Amino acid sequence: MSKILIAPSILSADFADFGNEIRAIEAQGADWVHVDVMDGHFVPNLTFGPPAVKAFRPHVKTFMDVHLMIAPVDPFIEAYAEAGADMITAHVEAGPHPHRTLQAIHATGAKAGIALNPGTPAEAVEHLLDLCDMVLVMTVNPGFGGQKFIHSQIAKIERIRAMIGDRPIHIQVDGGVDTETAPLVARAGADVLVAGSAVFRGGSVDRADIYGANIDAIRKAAEAV
Ligand code: DX5
Ligand code: ZN
Repeated sequence: MSKILIAPSILSADFADFGNEIRAIEAQGADWVHVDVMDGHFVPNLTFGPPAVKAFRPHVKTFMDVHLMIAPVDPFIEAYAEAGADMITAHVEAGPHPHRTLQAIHATGAKAGIALNPGTPAEAVEHLLDLCDMVLVMTVNPGFGGQKFIHSQIAKIERIRAMIGDRPIHIQVDGGVDTETAPLVARAGADVLVAGSAVFRGGSVDRADIYGANIDAIRKAAEAV
């Protein structure tokens, strides 16, 4: 079992205080910082353009994991790479040429991830794995934090882990991850756990210790399998 990484999603952070929020979660044990980019078209919500991600960059000392829930995605890859993304994850559903999209992400020097919505079968990424550093399995329908985990996706995680075999490819799970669901997805083969509400719940920049307790609890639950 590879090391479990916890990637808090700043979609659940205080939108008036991102610099301090990013520093707080990293000081409290976050391995990555998950940045949810939404365009109001591919998903029914709107979040961060490249200038916002560029503003986050100097505060991120770990790894800036940018999840592009946008379509079309190709025209924006370079801009998010220039903004400083370490990982750029595109949705396989975002356009007709995901293979080319992954090539374009690699061409920027960023790591490349491919994401699947709950309705998309694991087979959709079968011919893309050799271009991937990560496969992101959505366990909610994308667009918002705080949604309910979709248990049917656990079998998909297992299927993708089997397809990956011994290639060094992360499986990231995103949506409804907490101390209850973390062990389920870890057992199925996930190693990067995104958590928004379960990390930020009850905490604040002034009570960042609560962020730390939430991160530790999720990590412990996943590692206990
Ligand atoms: C949803 C985003 C997720 C979300 C996770 O579209 O991709 O990253 O912020 O939030 P929780 O952990 O609260 O489900
Ligand atoms: Zn996300």
